[in-house]
Amino acid sequence: MLETGVRAAAEGDMPAVRGVARRFGLLGGWGPGLPDLPDFLDAERLFGTLLIAPAQPGDEGGQARGFGGTLRRGGLTHLGDLFVLPAHQSSGLGRALLAGLLAGDGPKATFASSDHRALALYVRHGLRPWCPLLYLTGPATALPGPPVRVTSPDEVAALDAAVAGGDRGRTLAWYAALPGVTAYAAGEGYAFVRATADQALVGPAGGAAPRDCVNAVLGALAVTATPGTAKIAVPGTHPLVPVLLAAGWRIRDLDTLMADDAALALIHPDRYVPHPDLG
Ligand SMILES: CC(C)(COP(=O)(O)OP(=O)(O)OC[C@H]1O[C@@H](n2cnc3c(N)ncnc32)[C@H](O)[C@@H]1OP(=O)(O)O)[C@@H](O)C(=O)NCCC(=O)NCCS
Repeated sequence: MLETGVRAAAEGDMPAVRGVARRFGLLGGWGPGLPDLPDFLDAERLFGTLLIAPAQPGDEGGQARGFGGTLRRGGLTHLGDLFVLPAHQSSGLGRALLAGLLAGDGPKATFASSDHRALALYVRHGLRPWCPLLYLTGPATALPGPPVRVTSPDEVAALDAAVAGGDRGRTLAWYAALPGVTAYAAGEGYAFVRATADQALVGPAGGAAPRDCVNAVLGALAVTATPGTAKIAVPGTHPLVPVLLAAGWRIRDLDTLMADDAALALIHPDRYVPHPDLG
């Protein structure tokens, strides 16, 4: 155990971890009104690593101070979360969490916020800023798309591994089993969509070629019945970016896709659309 008390989060720590996650608005897309459904923090605990920096004696409210989480894609580690409550920032806690999360060998990647401390910490672990990751929103059904068919996570796992940097069949199956999640295929492309009453979230999606990924996303959007807003996180170099912006979609937020050299060789940002939380 580190001096900071950083350790693996147990089931009993999840309310404290979610308390920090809520403070940063991370759980908004995960079943609002349905708090008993699993979320990406469960996925990190199941399929990756979830670390907590617990409350220390004297901390007001006994809340956790921070947490961080990863998911695995084959040998690749995707850093999904690194969050420290404002009162405890800039005192080494993020560094301690990250040291635990990125201790293993293998390629590493993340979507970094604009927080200078986060960028600096990731660079120190060998990750380099690569391209922007644009969080786009637009009307869910306004774009025409080619026909798609419903598929299974098993069927698309190999293609996903080829574009995203490694196999994560169990994570895809876990996600596909959540309410509202459907996997679609079009030609040599695939796209997962999670549809709720007023929102559709696209990703992960990918394709053997950039055009296959574009087709799968547009086709999946076209058959998604949600009348409201669609959301998608697209690498800045992906051919979907000009298509969606030309159709009136808006950039709502921006992260930086960062990866070390080994991960750079495996991830294909021109034919891969990550899930914002699952990578
Ligand atoms: C990003 C975050 C997790 C870092 O945790 P933290 O506990 O505040 O950071 P630490 O004190 O462990 O380390 C920060 C490091 O950045 C360095 N740093 C600070 N400002 C910097 C700057 N402008 N440029 C470069 N480095 C900087 C510090 O020197 C420090 O390194 P050191 O301890 O070796 O001196 C935390 O600040 C946070 O939760 N931020 C808001 C949420 C967020 O954006 N999270 C990132 C999601 S990708």
